[in-house]
Amino acid sequence: PYQDAMANLMTRLDSLNNDYRRKYKNYPIHHMQERIKKKESIEEKLRRKGCRVSAEEARENLTDIAGIRIICYFEEDIYHVLERIKRQTDILILQEKDYIRQEKENGYRSLHIIVGIPVYHIDGMDYYPVEIQMRTMAMDLWASMEHRVCYKKLPEHRDELAEAFCQYADILGKIEEQFEAYNETGMLEEITPA
Ligand code: GTP
Ligand code: MG
Repeated sequence: PYQDAMANLMTRLDSLNNDYRRKYKNYPIHHMQERIKKKESIEEKLRRKGCRVSAEEARENLTDIAGIRIICYFEEDIYHVLERIKRQTDILILQEKDYIRQEKENGYRSLHIIVGIPVYHIDGMDYYPVEIQMRTMAMDLWASMEHRVCYKKLPEHRDELAEAFCQYADILGKIEEQFEAYNETGMLEEITPA
């Protein structure tokens, strides 16, 4: 069912991007990624949270078994897509964390939402959670490199790396501000501010 929920959401987002393409000749989503958490990672996370290792506990305690990442061109695109997701009346918004307007201390920026996607079974319907991470290409570059370089690093290198990655976040932020000058998509007129 997590796979089904994720596929359903991917299709909706593809449709949305296609509709933008038709109506505005431009589109907010550059690309998307999807992943299902591996069995070992699910078990490890359940143990870390002090839960029993079972399908029921996973269902009740983990909201990131299914995850998709939406990579946009401009920061504004992210809020635009977010608004469109929220307008789909059969999707539940279970959690929202805005690390863009409130970036993490290490420089991480992304907008995270957990949505509930309806999955219809033979004998009824259940909502399944999907974690959506929304970021620009620059935010994705930073996060991917930070994950690759800083994850599991020896403690003696941590401070200098943290310092360096704060600087990278700063530089990338400045580049994005410059890119804003090219954001003339005209997609944003009718969006109501948050
Ligand atoms: P998890 O237990 O790791 O899922 O964290 P959480 O429940 O506090 O959720 P949060 O929304 O803060 O983070 C969820 C996911 O966002 C992580 O699993 C990462 O994929 C990504 N993420 C959050 N913080 C960072 C960060 O500092 N660096 C990178 N590279 N990714 C991050
Ligand atoms: Mg996670």
